[in-house]
Amino acid sequence: MKMILVFSVVTIFALSNACPEESLRALVKYEVAQVENRIVKRLEALVNRQNVQTGVSGATFCSATSSWGHPFDVFGRGAQHFLAFRGTAGVGHSVYDAYIGDYNKKSPRRNIEPCCTQVNGSLPCSGHYRNAAILNNWQNIEEVVVALYDRGVLKQSLRFDAAGTTYLSWFSADKLKNSGKWRDLKSKTTNYFSIAGHLSYKRRFYINHKLHGCKHDDGWFMAMDKARPPCPYERHSSFPQFLYSSGNARALWSTSGDTVQADVMAIFVKPYNGCNNR
Ligand SMILES: *[C@@H]1O[C@H](CO)[C@@H](O)[C@H](O)[C@H]1NC(C)=O
Repeated sequence: MKMILVFSVVTIFALSNACPEESLRALVKYEVAQVENRIVKRLEALVNRQNVQTGVSGATFCSATSSWGHPFDVFGRGAQHFLAFRGTAGVGHSVYDAYIGDYNKKSPRRNIEPCCTQVNGSLPCSGHYRNAAILNNWQNIEEVVVALYDRGVLKQSLRFDAAGTTYLSWFSADKLKNSGKWRDLKSKTTNYFSIAGHLSYKRRFYINHKLHGCKHDDGWFMAMDKARPPCPYERHSSFPQFLYSSGNARALWSTSGDTVQADVMAIFVKPYNGCNNR
């Protein structure tokens, strides 16, 4: 225990300059999670030994999430979700490429600032964060959450059932469990609802109702991933931009105020609690 505490204090001291406040809190949570992990591992060992003695086989605990980082308390109901991806607005790199993993291959030595593993877009971060332990090995996941933030404040969230999905297929109307503030999303038809979205316009993570020309297009969300997009409503000084409807239904994309921007799009996953479904 003493060793752990000393180590924690040293790590916190070392990293606190890089990313204040938020990082400190996260680190404390992280260290607590590490201690919890150790306790769970001890228990696993004990139970396994017990099982060997009593002849019970196959009853092992799951520790698949140990490489996923620390859990976040997204909804104020306990730390249950792990950050699989963070898209950062305006950084000039494709959010889609980063999500599918191309970006890391193209710039393998790219350094991510410590704050990129947090969700507050006001803290220094000039890239997207991809948690390869989760996205390259899509397993043991019960739920996926897309959370849109503005300066660290959660503005909108969607929850998806991850059963039977891949890291590319969960973002769909079929898998949508909870549509957050958007009360009409479950009942309306969508002409786009996918991560790949509109290929030539590069509207990724696109949830749209209809396309009737720039003035009349309506929808809920898009990660605008193109430097020079076709419609005025998606043109900004930098890309990508996370555009979404600020109300409790879809918006006409061209109505500013109804269409607003998030500075961070976070994708969280929640692992299964039990081992039965793994
Ligand atoms: C996000 O970070 C900024 C800059 O440190 C801070 O002022 C703000 O309170 C943070 N937001 C939240 C929700 O903590």
